[in-house]
Amino acid sequence: MEPILPGAPWLIAHKSMLGVNQPNKITLNGQDYVVWQNRKGEVFAIDNICPHMQAPLSDGWICQERDTITCPFHALEFDGQGRLCREEKKDTQPITQPLDLIVSNDCIWTYAGFEPRLPIPDLHQRIVDEYEFVGVSGEKSIQGDFLSNLMVNYDYNHQNGTHKEMFKITSCSVSSFEEKGYYAQVQQEITRADNTLCEIIKNPLLGILPKTLNNALEYAFPSTTVLFAQTPIGKVAQVHILYPQTEKSTKTFILMYARDVNPLMKSLFKNSVLKAAATVIEQDTTAVESLYPRQKSKIRLPNEEIMFHAEKLYRDW
Ligand code: FES
Ligand SMILES: [Fe+2]
Repeated sequence: MEPILPGAPWLIAHKSMLGVNQPNKITLNGQDYVVWQNRKGEVFAIDNICPHMQAPLSDGWICQERDTITCPFHALEFDGQGRLCREEKKDTQPITQPLDLIVSNDCIWTYAGFEPRLPIPDLHQRIVDEYEFVGVSGEKSIQGDFLSNLMVNYDYNHQNGTHKEMFKITSCSVSSFEEKGYYAQVQQEITRADNTLCEIIKNPLLGILPKTLNNALEYAFPSTTVLFAQTPIGKVAQVHILYPQTEKSTKTFILMYARDVNPLMKSLFKNSVLKAAATVIEQDTTAVESLYPRQKSKIRLPNEEIMFHAEKLYRDW
């Protein structure tokens, strides 16, 4: 496939998603890689295609003494630089391609071998400086192209339909939108109707969420959308990540960060926000996967310029 947005920094995983000494298959822009982390937290990634007879290395196993991956087919062993390792001896030259990684605050970024065109966004550093990491939620491969998934995150009308259930959203308005190239900021106001008792029992967070929510959103195109929200028992920064797997599938997950959480409610809060985030992803996924092929729209809604701004960044890349 033609790579999507070559030179963009992609956040392919958070360390907590990888396990320890476990192979993980990651697909980025049509290429498969195997990624693993050792007990010390060092992360390695190489091309997933075995250079011997093309078996998928991610079906193999890790040798924790040597930090290598062994191919499941004929048990050849490769290290994180893509060098073949035989009988305790290592070749000096790589025989297969390593994937360049930048690990920052437990987030694993890559340019996948392209000349960087944007820096790793400092938005992530700002969040880590102020918030505590809570967990990952909603990890999913969505059957939809990258642009459709991206546009949903810049769409300030889909809350009224896509996220109506559960959050009982009755209106969503935008009071400000500021963009500075690939970075953008939005203030939104959401109003909600009451949740049913049954919904509150399923997710107690809904019972204490105010009827009006003033949220701030920040974007670091193309990988990151952050929702900053305040609840009566704590503040959250919900970091929504996207990257293109293939032309028709997009990977997504949410990194949840929180601060000022009422200490008595910590675990309830954690479970509730992670669950709510997973529901949000589920709802967006259903919307994107059910779309017919795009045509020119005959209707305009308010604030759609935010979405078209993102589309333009994508098309003009
Ligand atoms: S295919 Fe990997 S060792 Fe033969
Ligand atoms: Fe959404």
